[in-house]
Amino acid sequence: MPPIPPVPAYANDGASRILSGLLEARTGQILSEGRAWRMETALRPVLRKHGLHDSDELAARVVGKGDPRLEEDVVNALLNNESSFFRDLQVFDLIHRQILPRIQAEREDRTLRIWSAGCSTGQEAYSLAIRLRNEGARWAGWRIEILASDISTAAIEQARSGAFSQMDVQRGLAIGDLIKWFEPDGENWRASAELRGMIDFRHDNLFDARAPSGEYDLLLCRNVLLYFTPVRRQAVLRLLAAHSHAQSVLLLGAGETVIGHGDDFIAHSEFRGSYARQAAMPGSAIGRVRRQG
Ligand SMILES: C[S@@+](CC[C@H](N)C(=O)[O-])C[C@H]1O[C@@H](n2cnc3c(N)ncnc32)[C@H](O)[C@@H]1O
Repeated sequence: MPPIPPVPAYANDGASRILSGLLEARTGQILSEGRAWRMETALRPVLRKHGLHDSDELAARVVGKGDPRLEEDVVNALLNNESSFFRDLQVFDLIHRQILPRIQAEREDRTLRIWSAGCSTGQEAYSLAIRLRNEGARWAGWRIEILASDISTAAIEQARSGAFSQMDVQRGLAIGDLIKWFEPDGENWRASAELRGMIDFRHDNLFDARAPSGEYDLLLCRNVLLYFTPVRRQAVLRLLAAHSHAQSVLLLGAGETVIGHGDDFIAHSEFRGSYARQAAMPGSAIGRVRRQG
């Protein structure tokens, strides 16, 4: 008889259930099995910071008295903030070779609005900003707005600071872009003031009414839907649709789709792997658009 696999600790253990329950209640994210196994490791800095011995004590504190600081630290520690520069390079090629030229041809008011929803530590938004700046003259006279939002206060703080480790910049950033757009900062690197100034980083929950208003030409919500329930995926797509116009383009992560999650978006007829708002949606034509919360 094959050995009986051990029962996963996260499924069985009261403390883990409480802490993953907190994560889900605050963010909608369901802890993946892989991350649940690493929960203890992820929470170690939180235990140290708050002078607690183990996750049982931590869970008891979470249940016992409302401590918003502690809860925020737990949520930040359990969120999956995995990101890298130019993640899935072909997506950035699609954006710059096909999607942006189309927006540029159609947008009469010479304003480009991009929303990176679930931006983590900012690599996606910085990658877009780098490509736009490298295209220089092509965007002369354009107003470019990049909004990047995430629920993790720690991730947004890092994104806003523009500070990246040597390991971060080695993941996806070309050496030419590193030298051109980043400055050495001790053992790390920091995005230039010009690049940082292009992006509005905001702490925001996709399920919160504070989400921005206005419409975006290009929306990226990549590797965020994966750990939501189907109902929550549909709610996020609805939110993204409410911030889109008839020509907006939506990009999701490689393992994500709109199929089966409502009818707000359909596969884009031209840009393979991207999505367009369902034509039946009431709303604006390009050029009307705008603005902002
Ligand atoms: C795996 S990262 C993806 C980062 C980036 N989009 C990429 O593809 O490289 C997922 C991000 O979604 C954020 N997130 C999870 N739930 C969220 C919510 N309810 N509202 C806003 N952001 C959320 C997490 O904090 C995390 O930074």
